[in-house]
Amino acid sequence: MKRIAVVASGRGSNFQAIIDAIHNGTVPAECAALITDNPKAYAIERAQVAGIPVVVIDYSTFPSRELYERALLLAMQKADVDLFVLAGYMRILGASIVRAFPGKMINIHPALLPAFTGLHAQRQAVQYGVKLAGCTVHFVDESLDGGPIILQKCVPVMDSDDEDALAERILEHEHECLPEAIRLFCQDRIVIEGRKVRIF
Ligand code: GAR
Repeated sequence: MKRIAVVASGRGSNFQAIIDAIHNGTVPAECAALITDNPKAYAIERAQVAGIPVVVIDYSTFPSRELYERALLLAMQKADVDLFVLAGYMRILGASIVRAFPGKMINIHPALLPAFTGLHAQRQAVQYGVKLAGCTVHFVDESLDGGPIILQKCVPVMDSDDEDALAERILEHEHECLPEAIRLFCQDRIVIEGRKVRIF
């Protein structure tokens, strides 16, 4: 059985979807840790309810980004997992961390990449006026939201949508897409070939 760790900064609804998918047997994995940069993250309570160990690397207590990242890297190495799942981790991961876990880190992004990278992807989509939006699960590389794509789901954008309405519609799909990608990874059904991800 593969071991995974989830890295999250906030509410943790995607983390909850992963917990639920593990509990109901859909995802054959053990969640070994929640790692968070935010001591106030609601994800921490979700971990406690599920009996998952929590590691807090509080960004605000470090004098520099480098020292924070060093501590985060140590925590990640210590977790000793097969896969890191970024589920609402709201910082850019430094190259030293990305390089330490090649092909072992995935992220969920609330847009149809490569459109609308970075923060507030749903707001960017509404402001741009696209008719389709969605979510992407991808491997993490050194680019911003630019690693090989594993799964995408799309949703319509309604004329009446504001950022929150669109975010909510996308989120429902995130909660399916992310556990699905983890399931495929844990079943060894994912192969990265250059930019392409093959699913067997
Ligand atoms: C999700 O919509 C996720 O896709 C997004 O943050 C939200 C976290 O929600 N991630 C990013 O924007 C990463 N750049 P959650 O904490 O309820 O899972």
